[in-house]
Amino acid sequence: MGWKTIFEEKKCSADEAMKLIKSGDRVLLAHCVAEPEVLVDAMVKNKHLYTDITVSHMVSLGEGEYSTHEHKDVFTYEGWFTNAKTRLSLIQGHGEFVPVFFHQIPELIKNGTFKEDVLLVSMSEPDEHGYCNLGVSSDYTLQAVKSCATVIAEINDQVPVTFGDTFVHVKDIDAFVINSHPLYESKPAKIGTVEEAIGKHCSSLIEDGSTLQLGIGAIPDAVLSQLKDKKHLGIHSEMISDGVVDLYKTGAIDGSEKAMDEGKIVVTFLMGTKKLYDFADRNPALELRTVDYVNHPEVVAKSSKLVCINSCVQVDFMGQIASESIGTMQISGVGGQVDFLRGAAMTKDGKSKAIIAMPSVTRKKDGTMVSKIVPYLDHGAAVTTSRCDSDYIITEYGIAEMRGKSLKNRARQLINIAHPDFREELKKQFKERYNDDF
Ligand code: COA
Repeated sequence: MGWKTIFEEKKCSADEAMKLIKSGDRVLLAHCVAEPEVLVDAMVKNKHLYTDITVSHMVSLGEGEYSTHEHKDVFTYEGWFTNAKTRLSLIQGHGEFVPVFFHQIPELIKNGTFKEDVLLVSMSEPDEHGYCNLGVSSDYTLQAVKSCATVIAEINDQVPVTFGDTFVHVKDIDAFVINSHPLYESKPAKIGTVEEAIGKHCSSLIEDGSTLQLGIGAIPDAVLSQLKDKKHLGIHSEMISDGVVDLYKTGAIDGSEKAMDEGKIVVTFLMGTKKLYDFADRNPALELRTVDYVNHPEVVAKSSKLVCINSCVQVDFMGQIASESIGTMQISGVGGQVDFLRGAAMTKDGKSKAIIAMPSVTRKKDGTMVSKIVPYLDHGAAVTTSRCDSDYIITEYGIAEMRGKSLKNRARQLINIAHPDFREELKKQFKERYNDDF
Protein backbone atom coordinates (compact mmCIF):
# COMPACT_ATOMS: atom_id res chain seq x y z
CA MET A 1 0.00 0.00 0.00
CA GLY A 2 1.42 3.42 -0.96
CA TRP A 3 2.03 6.01 1.76
CA LYS A 4 -0.75 8.27 0.47
CA THR A 5 -3.33 5.53 0.98
CA ILE A 6 -1.99 4.81 4.49
CA PHE A 7 -2.15 8.52 5.31
CA GLU A 8 -5.71 8.93 4.00
CA GLU A 9 -6.97 5.81 5.80
CA LYS A 10 -5.54 6.89 9.17
CA LYS A 11 -6.86 10.45 9.08
CA CYS A 12 -9.49 11.08 11.75
CA SER A 13 -10.88 13.70 14.12
CA ALA A 14 -9.19 14.40 17.45
CA ASP A 15 -12.17 12.85 19.28
CA GLU A 16 -11.91 9.64 17.22
CA ALA A 17 -8.16 9.45 17.78
CA MET A 18 -8.68 9.63 21.54
CA LYS A 19 -10.49 6.24 21.42
CA LEU A 20 -7.06 4.69 20.79
CA ILE A 21 -6.09 5.55 24.37
CA LYS A 22 -7.11 2.75 26.76
CA SER A 23 -7.73 2.84 30.50
CA GLY A 24 -4.51 2.16 32.39
CA ASP A 25 -2.31 3.57 29.62
CA ARG A 26 0.69 5.76 30.17
CA VAL A 27 0.47 8.67 27.74
CA LEU A 28 3.68 10.48 26.81
CA LEU A 29 3.54 14.01 25.41
CA ALA A 30 6.12 14.94 22.79
CA HIS A 31 8.61 17.38 24.17
CA CYS A 32 8.18 21.13 24.58
CA VAL A 33 7.06 22.90 21.37
CA ALA A 34 6.22 19.50 19.81
CA GLU A 35 3.41 18.97 22.33
CA PRO A 36 0.22 18.64 20.25
CA GLU A 37 -2.12 21.20 21.78
CA VAL A 38 -5.29 19.98 20.08
CA LEU A 39 -4.72 16.31 21.01
CA VAL A 40 -3.98 17.10 24.65
CA ASP A 41 -7.17 19.20 24.88
CA ALA A 42 -9.12 16.36 23.24
CA MET A 43 -7.71 13.81 25.70
CA VAL A 44 -8.90 15.87 28.67
CA LYS A 45 -12.28 16.53 27.02
CA ASN A 46 -12.76 12.78 26.48
CA LYS A 47 -11.81 11.79 30.01
CA HIS A 48 -15.16 9.98 30.46
CA LEU A 49 -13.67 7.26 28.19
CA TYR A 50 -10.90 6.35 30.63
CA THR A 51 -9.77 5.40 34.09
CA ASP A 52 -6.23 5.53 35.44
CA ILE A 53 -4.24 7.43 32.80
CA THR A 54 -0.68 8.56 33.61
CA VAL A 55 0.64 11.55 31.66
CA SER A 56 4.41 12.10 31.37
CA HIS A 57 6.64 14.67 29.72
CA MET A 58 9.64 16.84 30.21
CA VAL A 59 9.38 20.59 29.46
CA SER A 60 5.80 21.56 28.63
CA LEU A 61 4.59 24.94 27.39
CA GLY A 62 0.97 23.74 27.46
CA GLU A 63 -1.85 24.35 29.92
CA GLY A 64 -1.34 21.07 31.81
CA GLU A 65 -5.11 20.65 32.40
CA TYR A 66 -4.66 16.88 32.97
CA SER A 67 -2.55 17.68 36.04
CA THR A 68 -5.23 19.71 37.84
CA HIS A 69 -7.11 18.66 40.95
CA GLU A 70 -10.34 18.66 38.93
CA HIS A 71 -9.12 15.78 36.74
CA LYS A 72 -7.22 13.74 39.29
CA ASP A 73 -9.89 11.02 39.29
CA VAL A 74 -8.68 10.01 35.81
CA PHE A 75 -5.26 11.54 35.17
CA THR A 76 -2.05 11.32 37.18
CA TYR A 77 0.74 13.65 36.12
CA GLU A 78 4.14 11.96 36.47
CA GLY A 79 6.71 14.31 34.98
CA TRP A 80 10.42 14.85 34.58
CA PHE A 81 10.30 18.70 34.62
CA THR A 82 7.50 20.83 36.04
CA ASN A 83 5.95 24.14 35.04
CA ALA A 84 3.64 26.49 36.97
CA LYS A 85 0.59 24.25 36.39
CA THR A 86 2.07 20.80 36.82
CA ARG A 87 4.06 21.83 39.92
CA LEU A 88 0.74 22.59 41.63
CA SER A 89 -0.20 18.89 41.35
CA LEU A 90 2.92 18.04 43.38
CA ILE A 91 2.04 20.64 46.01
CA GLN A 92 -1.54 19.31 46.18
CA GLY A 93 -0.23 15.77 46.54
CA HIS A 94 -1.73 13.97 43.55
CA GLY A 95 1.12 14.52 41.07
CA GLU A 96 4.44 12.69 40.84
CA PHE A 97 7.95 13.78 39.88
CA VAL A 98 10.74 11.52 38.59
CA PRO A 99 14.33 12.88 38.73
CA VAL A 100 16.27 11.86 35.61
CA PHE A 101 19.18 13.08 33.47
CA PHE A 102 17.81 14.17 30.10
CA HIS A 103 20.33 12.11 28.10
CA GLN A 104 19.09 8.89 29.72
CA ILE A 105 15.43 9.25 28.77
CA PRO A 106 15.49 7.61 25.29
CA GLU A 107 17.23 4.51 26.71
CA LEU A 108 14.79 4.36 29.65
CA ILE A 109 11.87 4.50 27.19
CA LYS A 110 13.52 1.86 24.97
CA ASN A 111 14.27 -0.58 27.79
CA GLY A 112 10.82 -0.18 29.35
CA THR A 113 11.87 1.53 32.60
CA PHE A 114 9.62 4.33 31.36
CA LYS A 115 6.94 2.06 29.87
CA GLU A 116 5.05 4.51 27.70
CA ASP A 117 2.02 3.16 25.78
CA VAL A 118 0.77 6.12 23.76
CA LEU A 119 2.64 9.08 22.25
CA LEU A 120 0.83 12.32 21.43
CA VAL A 121 3.00 14.33 19.05
CA SER A 122 2.82 17.11 16.48
CA MET A 123 4.55 16.81 13.10
CA SER A 124 4.78 18.47 9.72
CA GLU A 125 2.77 17.29 6.77
CA PRO A 126 4.30 14.28 4.98
CA ASP A 127 6.79 15.04 2.19
CA GLU A 128 6.71 13.45 -1.26
CA HIS A 129 8.33 10.27 0.16
CA GLY A 130 5.78 9.89 2.97
CA TYR A 131 7.97 11.24 5.78
CA CYS A 132 6.56 13.63 8.39
CA ASN A 133 9.02 15.77 10.33
CA LEU A 134 9.31 16.29 14.10
CA GLY A 135 10.52 19.81 13.38
CA VAL A 136 11.17 21.27 16.82
CA SER A 137 11.97 18.23 18.95
CA SER A 138 14.06 15.11 18.44
CA ASP A 139 15.26 14.53 22.06
CA TYR A 140 13.18 11.59 23.45
CA THR A 141 10.38 12.13 20.95
CA LEU A 142 11.96 10.05 18.16
CA GLN A 143 12.57 7.08 20.49
CA ALA A 144 8.98 7.35 21.72
CA VAL A 145 7.71 7.03 18.13
CA LYS A 146 9.63 3.73 17.94
CA SER A 147 8.71 2.40 21.39
CA CYS A 148 5.09 3.42 22.00
CA ALA A 149 2.49 0.89 20.86
CA THR A 150 0.23 3.76 19.73
CA VAL A 151 1.41 6.99 18.08
CA ILE A 152 -1.17 9.71 17.48
CA ALA A 153 0.10 12.64 15.40
CA GLU A 154 -1.34 16.10 15.02
CA ILE A 155 -0.28 17.16 11.53
CA ASN A 156 0.31 20.90 11.59
CA ASP A 157 1.49 22.63 8.43
CA GLN A 158 3.19 25.28 10.58
CA VAL A 159 5.71 22.77 12.01
CA PRO A 160 9.07 23.48 10.33
CA VAL A 161 11.00 20.76 8.52
CA THR A 162 14.40 20.30 10.14
CA PHE A 163 17.32 18.02 9.34
CA GLY A 164 18.81 15.34 11.58
CA ASP A 165 16.97 12.69 13.63
CA THR A 166 13.59 14.14 12.77
CA PHE A 167 11.95 12.08 10.01
CA VAL A 168 9.10 9.64 10.71
CA HIS A 169 7.33 7.64 8.01
CA VAL A 170 3.52 7.69 7.93
CA LYS A 171 3.47 3.87 8.28
CA ASP A 172 4.83 4.27 11.83
CA ILE A 173 1.90 6.39 12.95
CA ASP A 174 -1.51 5.09 14.00
CA ALA A 175 -3.73 8.15 13.57
CA PHE A 176 -3.45 11.55 11.92
CA VAL A 177 -5.40 14.60 13.07
CA ILE A 178 -5.02 17.48 10.61
CA ASN A 179 -4.68 21.02 11.91
CA SER A 180 -3.08 24.36 11.26
CA HIS A 181 -2.15 26.68 14.10
CA PRO A 182 0.89 28.64 15.33
CA LEU A 183 3.38 26.72 17.47
CA TYR A 184 3.95 27.37 21.17
CA GLU A 185 6.23 30.34 21.68
CA SER A 186 8.59 31.21 24.49
CA LYS A 187 9.25 34.94 24.29
CA PRO A 188 12.81 36.18 24.90
CA ALA A 189 13.35 37.19 28.53
CA LYS A 190 13.78 40.87 29.42
CA ILE A 191 17.44 41.78 29.73
CA GLY A 192 17.99 44.42 32.43
CA THR A 193 21.21 45.82 33.89
CA VAL A 194 21.75 42.79 36.14
CA GLU A 195 21.41 40.33 33.26
CA GLU A 196 23.62 42.52 31.09
CA ALA A 197 26.38 42.51 33.74
CA ILE A 198 26.10 38.73 34.07
CA GLY A 199 26.28 38.43 30.27
CA LYS A 200 29.49 40.47 30.23
CA HIS A 201 31.17 38.30 32.88
CA CYS A 202 30.20 35.15 30.97
CA SER A 203 31.42 36.67 27.71
CA SER A 204 34.84 37.30 29.30
CA LEU A 205 35.24 33.50 29.58
CA ILE A 206 34.27 32.85 25.96
CA GLU A 207 37.14 32.87 23.46
CA ASP A 208 36.70 33.13 19.71
CA GLY A 209 36.14 29.63 18.32
CA SER A 210 34.32 28.39 21.44
CA THR A 211 31.41 25.97 21.23
CA LEU A 212 28.44 27.00 23.36
CA GLN A 213 25.76 25.14 25.28
CA LEU A 214 22.92 27.33 26.47
CA GLY A 215 20.42 26.33 29.11
CA ILE A 216 16.92 27.44 29.91
CA GLY A 217 15.92 30.84 31.40
CA ALA A 218 16.78 34.53 31.08
CA ILE A 219 20.56 34.27 31.51
CA PRO A 220 21.46 32.44 28.27
CA ASP A 221 19.72 35.16 26.22
CA ALA A 222 21.63 37.83 28.16
CA VAL A 223 24.91 36.07 27.39
CA LEU A 224 24.14 35.82 23.68
CA SER A 225 23.45 39.54 23.53
CA GLN A 226 27.07 40.15 24.63
CA LEU A 227 28.70 37.99 21.96
CA LYS A 228 28.19 40.11 18.85
CA ASP A 229 31.91 40.80 18.43
CA LYS A 230 33.07 37.17 18.82
CA LYS A 231 34.21 35.08 15.88
CA HIS A 232 33.78 31.45 14.79
CA LEU A 233 31.49 30.45 17.66
CA GLY A 234 29.79 27.07 17.44
CA ILE A 235 26.66 25.62 19.02
CA HIS A 236 26.30 22.14 20.56
CA SER A 237 23.39 22.65 22.91
CA GLU A 238 20.39 20.90 24.34
CA MET A 239 18.24 23.79 23.13
CA ILE A 240 18.45 27.18 21.48
CA SER A 241 16.16 30.17 21.49
CA ASP A 242 15.87 33.27 19.28
CA GLY A 243 19.20 34.81 20.38
CA VAL A 244 21.16 32.29 18.31
CA VAL A 245 19.42 33.40 15.09
CA ASP A 246 20.80 36.96 15.32
CA LEU A 247 24.33 35.77 16.09
CA TYR A 248 24.23 33.33 13.19
CA LYS A 249 22.98 35.99 10.79
CA THR A 250 25.66 38.50 11.83
CA GLY A 251 28.35 35.82 11.39
CA ALA A 252 29.52 35.47 15.02
CA ILE A 253 28.31 31.85 14.91
CA ASP A 254 29.67 29.82 12.00
CA GLY A 255 30.73 26.55 13.67
CA SER A 256 33.97 26.54 11.70
CA GLU A 257 36.12 25.56 14.71
CA LYS A 258 33.86 22.90 16.19
CA ALA A 259 35.65 19.66 17.08
CA MET A 260 32.63 17.66 15.88
CA ASP A 261 29.72 18.43 13.55
CA GLU A 262 31.81 21.21 12.04
CA GLY A 263 29.76 24.07 10.62
CA LYS A 264 26.49 22.78 12.10
CA ILE A 265 24.34 24.12 14.89
CA VAL A 266 23.50 20.90 16.75
CA VAL A 267 20.62 20.85 19.24
CA THR A 268 18.03 18.41 20.51
CA PHE A 269 15.05 20.80 20.67
CA LEU A 270 14.01 24.35 19.80
CA MET A 271 12.21 26.74 22.14
CA GLY A 272 11.70 30.29 20.93
CA THR A 273 9.34 32.25 18.74
CA LYS A 274 8.28 32.04 15.07
CA LYS A 275 11.56 33.79 14.26
CA LEU A 276 13.48 30.70 15.42
CA TYR A 277 11.09 28.21 13.80
CA ASP A 278 11.29 30.07 10.45
CA PHE A 279 15.11 30.09 10.71
CA ALA A 280 15.09 26.34 11.36
CA ASP A 281 12.82 25.46 8.43
CA ARG A 282 14.80 23.46 5.81
CA ASN A 283 18.04 25.06 7.06
CA PRO A 284 21.05 22.78 6.43
CA ALA A 285 23.04 24.79 8.99
CA LEU A 286 20.92 23.29 11.79
CA GLU A 287 20.56 19.67 12.89
CA LEU A 288 18.27 18.25 15.53
CA ARG A 289 19.77 15.06 16.99
CA THR A 290 18.35 12.81 19.71
CA VAL A 291 19.20 13.75 23.30
CA ASP A 292 21.16 10.53 23.91
CA TYR A 293 23.61 11.95 21.34
CA VAL A 294 23.51 15.71 22.00
CA ASN A 295 23.56 15.55 25.82
CA HIS A 296 25.49 12.33 26.41
CA PRO A 297 28.51 13.33 28.52
CA GLU A 298 30.76 11.08 26.37
CA VAL A 299 29.67 12.95 23.23
CA VAL A 300 29.86 16.36 24.90
CA ALA A 301 33.39 15.42 26.03
CA LYS A 302 34.53 15.30 22.39
CA SER A 303 34.02 19.08 22.13
CA SER A 304 36.81 21.55 22.46
CA LYS A 305 36.67 25.03 23.96
CA LEU A 306 33.18 24.18 25.18
CA VAL A 307 31.46 26.78 27.35
CA CYS A 308 28.23 25.65 29.04
CA ILE A 309 25.95 28.29 30.52
CA ASN A 310 23.12 27.28 32.82
CA SER A 311 21.30 28.85 35.71
CA CYS A 312 20.17 27.95 39.21
CA VAL A 313 18.01 28.80 42.21
CA GLN A 314 20.64 28.71 45.00
CA VAL A 315 24.34 28.00 45.55
CA ASP A 316 25.65 27.14 49.00
CA PHE A 317 29.08 27.94 50.49
CA MET A 318 30.47 24.59 49.26
CA GLY A 319 29.43 25.16 45.65
CA GLN A 320 26.46 22.78 45.79
CA ILE A 321 23.94 23.97 43.24
CA ALA A 322 20.14 23.75 43.57
CA SER A 323 18.65 24.43 40.13
CA GLU A 324 15.28 22.78 40.16
CA SER A 325 13.64 23.26 43.54
CA ILE A 326 13.00 26.02 46.03
CA GLY A 327 13.32 24.05 49.25
CA THR A 328 10.97 21.10 48.89
CA MET A 329 9.03 22.69 46.02
CA GLN A 330 10.00 21.22 42.65
CA ILE A 331 9.94 24.12 40.17
CA SER A 332 11.54 22.58 37.08
CA GLY A 333 13.85 19.58 36.59
CA VAL A 334 17.42 18.42 36.17
CA GLY A 335 17.20 18.81 32.39
CA GLY A 336 20.60 18.68 30.76
CA GLN A 337 22.50 20.73 33.31
CA VAL A 338 24.52 17.86 34.75
CA ASP A 339 24.90 16.13 31.35
CA PHE A 340 26.78 19.17 30.05
CA LEU A 341 28.68 20.02 33.23
CA ARG A 342 30.07 16.49 33.35
CA GLY A 343 30.76 16.37 29.61
CA ALA A 344 32.62 19.69 29.79
CA ALA A 345 34.72 18.39 32.67
CA MET A 346 35.67 15.35 30.57
CA THR A 347 36.92 17.34 27.53
CA LYS A 348 40.61 16.91 26.82
CA ASP A 349 41.66 20.42 25.79
CA GLY A 350 41.70 21.85 29.32
CA LYS A 351 39.82 24.88 28.03
CA SER A 352 36.21 23.93 28.55
CA LYS A 353 34.18 25.70 31.20
CA ALA A 354 30.85 25.02 32.87
CA ILE A 355 29.22 28.21 34.09
CA ILE A 356 26.27 28.54 36.42
CA ALA A 357 25.12 32.14 36.14
CA MET A 358 22.40 33.81 38.21
CA PRO A 359 21.35 37.19 39.61
CA SER A 360 22.77 37.56 43.15
CA VAL A 361 19.31 38.10 44.68
CA THR A 362 15.69 37.21 44.00
CA ARG A 363 12.35 38.18 45.45
CA LYS A 364 10.38 35.49 47.26
CA LYS A 365 6.62 35.15 46.80
CA ASP A 366 6.01 37.22 49.97
CA GLY A 367 8.11 40.08 48.54
CA THR A 368 11.25 39.63 50.67
CA MET A 369 14.57 39.94 48.89
CA VAL A 370 16.86 36.92 49.44
CA SER A 371 20.45 36.13 48.51
CA LYS A 372 20.88 33.24 46.08
CA ILE A 373 24.30 32.57 47.62
CA VAL A 374 23.58 30.95 50.98
CA PRO A 375 25.49 29.14 53.73
CA TYR A 376 23.06 26.19 53.49
CA LEU A 377 20.57 25.29 50.78
CA ASP A 378 16.94 25.69 51.78
CA HIS A 379 15.60 22.75 53.77
CA GLY A 380 14.64 19.95 51.37
CA ALA A 381 16.26 21.47 48.25
CA ALA A 382 17.51 18.96 45.68
CA VAL A 383 21.21 19.26 44.87
CA THR A 384 21.16 19.33 41.08
CA THR A 385 24.91 19.80 40.63
CA SER A 386 27.20 18.40 43.31
CA ARG A 387 30.13 20.33 44.76
CA CYS A 388 32.53 18.05 42.86
CA ASP A 389 30.83 18.93 39.57
CA SER A 390 30.55 22.70 40.03
CA ASP A 391 33.02 24.84 38.09
CA TYR A 392 32.35 28.58 37.54
CA ILE A 393 29.62 30.52 39.39
CA ILE A 394 28.78 33.98 38.07
CA THR A 395 26.58 36.81 39.38
CA GLU A 396 26.39 40.45 38.30
CA TYR A 397 29.23 41.08 40.80
CA GLY A 398 31.79 38.73 39.28
CA ILE A 399 33.12 35.22 38.80
CA ALA A 400 33.88 32.53 41.40
CA GLU A 401 35.86 29.41 40.54
CA MET A 402 35.02 26.18 42.35
CA ARG A 403 37.04 23.45 40.63
CA GLY A 404 40.12 22.44 42.60
CA LYS A 405 39.38 24.97 45.35
CA SER A 406 39.07 24.28 49.08
CA LEU A 407 35.77 24.75 50.90
CA LYS A 408 36.91 27.98 52.57
CA ASN A 409 38.30 29.36 49.32
CA ARG A 410 34.97 28.58 47.59
CA ALA A 411 32.95 30.28 50.31
CA ARG A 412 35.18 33.38 50.28
CA GLN A 413 34.91 33.73 46.51
CA LEU A 414 31.15 33.22 46.59
CA ILE A 415 30.65 35.81 49.33
CA ASN A 416 32.65 38.29 47.24
CA ILE A 417 30.16 37.94 44.37
CA ALA A 418 27.06 37.97 46.61
CA HIS A 419 24.86 41.08 46.71
CA PRO A 420 26.56 43.75 48.91
CA ASP A 421 23.46 43.95 51.17
CA PHE A 422 24.00 40.33 52.21
CA ARG A 423 27.81 40.12 52.38
CA GLU A 424 28.23 41.06 56.09
CA GLU A 425 25.72 38.44 57.22
CA LEU A 426 27.34 35.84 54.95
CA LYS A 427 30.79 36.68 56.38
CA LYS A 428 29.38 36.16 59.89
CA GLN A 429 28.04 32.78 58.81
CA PHE A 430 31.45 31.96 57.32
CA LYS A 431 33.17 32.63 60.66
CA GLU A 432 30.65 30.52 62.56
CA ARG A 433 30.91 27.64 60.16
CA TYR A 434 34.64 27.49 59.53
CA ASN A 435 35.92 28.89 62.82
CA ASP A 436 38.21 31.16 60.80
CA ASP A 437 38.38 34.82 59.75
CA PHE A 438 36.87 35.79 56.44
N1 COA B 1 14.57 31.54 46.56
C1 COA B 1 13.24 31.68 46.30
N2 COA B 1 12.73 31.77 45.04
C2 COA B 1 13.61 31.71 44.01
C3 COA B 1 15.00 31.56 44.20
C4 COA B 1 15.47 31.48 45.56
N3 COA B 1 16.76 31.36 45.84
N4 COA B 1 15.60 31.53 42.99
C5 COA B 1 14.63 31.64 42.07
N5 COA B 1 13.45 31.77 42.68
C6 COA B 1 12.14 31.93 42.03
C7 COA B 1 12.12 33.20 41.19
O1 COA B 1 11.78 34.34 41.98
C8 COA B 1 11.08 32.85 40.14
O2 COA B 1 9.78 32.98 40.71
P1 COA B 1 8.51 33.44 39.80
O3 COA B 1 8.35 32.33 38.78
O4 COA B 1 7.42 33.51 40.77
O5 COA B 1 8.94 34.75 39.19
C9 COA B 1 11.30 31.35 39.92
O6 COA B 1 11.97 30.88 41.10
C10 COA B 1 12.16 31.05 38.70
O7 COA B 1 13.37 31.79 38.81
P2 COA B 1 13.98 32.61 37.59
O8 COA B 1 15.30 33.06 38.07
O9 COA B 1 13.03 33.63 37.06
O10 COA B 1 14.02 31.46 36.51
P3 COA B 1 14.66 31.32 35.10
O11 COA B 1 13.58 31.32 34.10
O12 COA B 1 15.83 32.23 34.87
O13 COA B 1 15.21 29.80 35.23
C11 COA B 1 16.03 27.99 36.57
C12 COA B 1 16.13 29.47 36.23
C13 COA B 1 17.13 27.63 37.54
C14 COA B 1 14.68 27.68 37.20
C15 COA B 1 16.21 27.20 35.25
O14 COA B 1 17.45 27.55 34.68
C16 COA B 1 16.17 25.70 35.45
O15 COA B 1 15.12 25.12 35.56
N6 COA B 1 17.35 25.02 35.48
C17 COA B 1 17.46 23.59 35.68
C18 COA B 1 17.54 22.82 34.38
C19 COA B 1 18.69 23.22 33.53
O16 COA B 1 19.60 23.91 33.90
N7 COA B 1 18.66 22.78 32.31
C20 COA B 1 19.74 23.12 31.40
C21 COA B 1 19.51 22.83 30.04
S1 COA B 1 17.84 23.20 29.51
